[in-house]
Amino acid sequence: MEKTFYITTPIYYANTLPHLGHLYTTTVSDVVRRYKRQCGYDTYFLTGTDEHGINIQREAEKAGRSPKAQADFIAGEIQKMFAQFGLDPKNGGYDVFMRTTEPFHYEAAQNFWQAIASNKTPQGNETIYKDFYRAWFCAPCAEFKTETEYETPEGEDTPRCLIHERPLDRVEEESYFFKLSDYGETLLELIENNPDLIRPEARRKEIVSFVSGGLQDLSISREKKNVEWGIPVPGDDTHVMYVWMDALSNYITAIGYGNDERESVGFEKYWQNAVHFIGKDILRFHTVYWFSFLLAAGLPLPTCVFAHGMWLDPDGRKMSSTLGNGIDPNVLRKHFQTDSIRYFLLREMVFGSDGKFGYEGLIERVNSDLAKGLGNLSSRTLSMISKYRDGKVPDGTVSEENFIYAKRAGLSPDHEELAAVLEMARTEFVRHFDRYDFSLGLEGLWRVIARVDKMITESAPWNLVKDEKQTQTLNAVLYRAAETLRWLVVLLSPVMPAACDSIWKQIGLAGSPSDTDPNQLEWGGLEAGTTIGDTEPVFPRLDSSKIMEEINSANEIVEAEEQEFITIDDFIKVELRVGEVLEAENVPKSDKLLRCLVDVGDEHPRQILAGIAEHYRPEELVGKKIVVVYNLKPRMMMGLESQGMICAASLGKNDKPVVATFDEEVPNGARLT
Ligand code: ME8
Ligand code: MG
Repeated sequence: MEKTFYITTPIYYANTLPHLGHLYTTTVSDVVRRYKRQCGYDTYFLTGTDEHGINIQREAEKAGRSPKAQADFIAGEIQKMFAQFGLDPKNGGYDVFMRTTEPFHYEAAQNFWQAIASNKTPQGNETIYKDFYRAWFCAPCAEFKTETEYETPEGEDTPRCLIHERPLDRVEEESYFFKLSDYGETLLELIENNPDLIRPEARRKEIVSFVSGGLQDLSISREKKNVEWGIPVPGDDTHVMYVWMDALSNYITAIGYGNDERESVGFEKYWQNAVHFIGKDILRFHTVYWFSFLLAAGLPLPTCVFAHGMWLDPDGRKMSSTLGNGIDPNVLRKHFQTDSIRYFLLREMVFGSDGKFGYEGLIERVNSDLAKGLGNLSSRTLSMISKYRDGKVPDGTVSEENFIYAKRAGLSPDHEELAAVLEMARTEFVRHFDRYDFSLGLEGLWRVIARVDKMITESAPWNLVKDEKQTQTLNAVLYRAAETLRWLVVLLSPVMPAACDSIWKQIGLAGSPSDTDPNQLEWGGLEAGTTIGDTEPVFPRLDSSKIMEEINSANEIVEAEEQEFITIDDFIKVELRVGEVLEAENVPKSDKLLRCLVDVGDEHPRQILAGIAEHYRPEELVGKKIVVVYNLKPRMMMGLESQGMICAASLGKNDKPVVATFDEEVPNGARLT
């Protein structure tokens, strides 16, 4: 049978703009898919958006859009962002951007439901039954909460979710239930017998202990009168499917399960070896629920669910849309090459553990590993070939009578030793990448770089070139360095496709390193006499203080552009609202920014950053009724999300801005027209 490999990311909620966390899972999946393709697998790569549910319905209402328009907008933004990072099909990235609002998915998700309903549980019970449900629901989690998962603050009646600390929704309604409680034993058996089904090990243990604690039946529908935005339950238009059931089934509907439209992708072919990359935040859904749904529908389980860790902000909090502390991919893209970001994401975070993100750390890694490491090895090797050998890769053989000179330069007379080092490094790299231990795999290659760097420095080609007796020694050094570079570029190509293509061309090789299976690499593949290409630095050294200053000041104030006349249609797009400043404080490390919490009449106050700290003390603002640009696209400033803008008047750029306020009482949230 043909080797196939199907890799998926979560489909991200289409309610807010993406941050580094979303970019991360799709990037890592892209690396793995390129790696597998290079190893000869027939691959398929899915990413996309999850577009139903109460949460999206509410965000849409807030933005004054229909749920579909909201989903279209966010899905479009995410696709744009992925394309900017080379993750789209044009650049060899994902094969499908799955959207759960596509009609084929409606049909197929309903067929999945029906397949489940038509079977019995292992105990011979109905898989799906109707009952009455009373519970607390967290919309951002899209999950019903049990007693241990919420807390009721003193003096309040409504409990709050421990994760989002927002009041839960009371649900008391008729619901379809999935008989999850009948699947615990089967699940445990499968998880115990397939150690790689859930990875890493800590996550596997977590699920084993959760399942061992006993499973409760799962509510899998909402009454349509309460939640409108979803896929109708087949045969009952008064209910829509639980959003997770709808969303999880995307992994099979996208490749042709239960529908004709996507049939040609090949459900049978790809589902036999499917790997789900997810964050650990959604592990339970992807193992306990998803596995049980599949079992109930009589379908095989995926090969592996790998739950990676979370990117944290410098304070150690999980980066999330809800907290608004997510790194903005646009800022990253502006200051860093895509390949550098890809390398950093794979090298810095041990896949499976949490990691803190900081720009300084990124700059440091790029400079040490890429500019000084790989980049320098490439440019010094190629420039020596150009200078000392007229741009032609020399034959690196050392004849017996020249052994003595080679030895004197610290070089082993034949290439065997280095070839063995490379073969070992390749074996280790492949082993680690096959296990998704990216960080370890990369570390090993950098030991090779250090070794070859040392060979160059110790043999000092710039001296060898002055002595004719050392000609073969010099040739050997140059050949070995260039051949090592070729190996490195083949191995690193899935991680840094553009940079590796560039080095490949600079060595003078045809095609792309991604066409060489790493397992097929053999010493000597680089032919003597190859004319090297035009050389150029691949990873310029980054100026840390300059970049940090740019990032910080760009975050501070966005200057108003010169205005031309606008039409009334333009004007009504701007929604101005009355807000009341509840809290204000200086933003650490910023002279200009104040962080304000502003009540704009919604359930939750908005966090708004205002560039007025040089003219207002925080306490002067608290209690003031101000004017807020309500529908401004949220943006990141100094690592904080600003959800709107405070209007202030000033004559010139350097004059004191005066915050617009009201003389008379106005209610918070009132709209200015
Ligand atoms: O959960 N660090 O969507 P979502 C690393 N729609 N990865 C992160 C991250 C962080 N700080 N924050 C988010 C959903 N992610 C559902 C999924 S699947 C059938 C339905 C990544 O928009 C990580 O992959 O909340 C995480 O699991 C996912 O985004 C959650 O995305
Ligand atoms: Mg989430």
